[in-house]
Amino acid sequence: MKIVTIIGARPQIIKAAALSRAIQEHYADRVQEIIVHTGQHYDDNMSQVFFDELGIPHPDYNLHVGSASHGVQTARMIEGIEQILMDEKPDCIVLYGDTNSTLAGAVAASKIHVPVVHIEAGLRSFNKSMPEEINRIVCDHCSTLLFSPTKAGFDNLAREGFPVNNEGPYSIDNPKVFHCGDIMYDNSLHFSKVADHKSIILKQLGLEDKPFALATLHRDSNTDQPERLNAILEAFKELSKEITIVLPMHPRTRKKAADFHADNVIVIEPVSFLEMIQLEKHAQMILTDSGGVQKESYFFQKPCVILRPETEWVEIVETGAATLADADYGKILETSRHYLQQPPVKFPEIFGDGHAAKFILERMLDCLAP
Ligand code: UD1
Ligand code: UDP
Repeated sequence: MKIVTIIGARPQIIKAAALSRAIQEHYADRVQEIIVHTGQHYDDNMSQVFFDELGIPHPDYNLHVGSASHGVQTARMIEGIEQILMDEKPDCIVLYGDTNSTLAGAVAASKIHVPVVHIEAGLRSFNKSMPEEINRIVCDHCSTLLFSPTKAGFDNLAREGFPVNNEGPYSIDNPKVFHCGDIMYDNSLHFSKVADHKSIILKQLGLEDKPFALATLHRDSNTDQPERLNAILEAFKELSKEITIVLPMHPRTRKKAADFHADNVIVIEPVSFLEMIQLEKHAQMILTDSGGVQKESYFFQKPCVILRPETEWVEIVETGAATLADADYGKILETSRHYLQQPPVKFPEIFGDGHAAKFILERMLDCLAP
């Protein structure tokens, strides 16, 4: 089976590591993977570092689309991906998550009848002002195989009319939905074992014996609305009087908050995945608007203050391990103080057994191999 994998943004590069590893470990003789990097993310610390660190094969193609408006960026990707699909003639295209690279892959492939496999299908924030929500919905409805990491994702698809007990052969008009667990859980388990030996970030930041909170911030609804960005950063500043905050800053946020400074907030460049895992494992608490980081805080059993009004990872909030604080100065402080005093203790298994990638490959071979 020949597959074309599309990656482009940081979280997709990391996610792809799980499937590439499972191919190398179990199916090297049955699956040929062609990797296409759209070039959506291009700084070394947003892209190359993950190839160097996570053992992902070097991309076969890089479209170098770079940054642009949604329309321009997505259009450039569609054009490049379509040509590659026509040249490579794969059995399917594999798409991750909800970025513009995902959307471009879904549109390009479905129009020329290449089956779409969507990993991280079914997630919904029910907030269509998020670009990611549009990307998720379009991609799911162009897909032949949909792999949902959570029960909530599976149920969302059933509610949208996807069949749940259908038989093959599967196609865009007879798609198959699987609830399979989260490949990022696979990755976190796998790389957690090496992060503590290989990463020295705690030492570098002087945090080996010091409690700290970890924060990330990049959602356009936060960075591009000055009053929201200001409320969140002011809350960080106030909270840092009680606990050190480490803030690896996304380039999008850096452009809007270049002069942000607070004595006990350590602002650093984006870190590698092993460094991120080490920070997550040793933090007292995590504050974030990232989808991936919300889940990782749960994997590593840390309380999470979500800097958004809603989340597609609803189960995490339902367990009490995370709270939606939005960009609300008071709520961020109140929730953080509560979690620092009373960290949650229950983290029931929501994200599968750490073998989602193998499950996905087996189903892909069953359903789509020639
Ligand atoms: C994108 C995804 C988002 C995902 C995030 C992961 C879309 C619509 N959004 O958001 O879902 O959570 O990636 O990080 O696809 N920039 C750089 N260097 C880079 C990349 C970006 O400086 O290597 C800057 C540019 O100024 C760019 C801005 O960041 O305009 C935003 O980048 P873009 O890829 O458009 O969106 P993200 O906010 O990164
Ligand atoms: N991440 C990283 N370095 C950083 C910040 C995040 O390696 O400085 C990882 C993080 O551990 C997670 C992924 O990037 O696996 C999440 O990506 P991001 O927050 O950019 O996007 P989202 O998940 O919100 O789409």
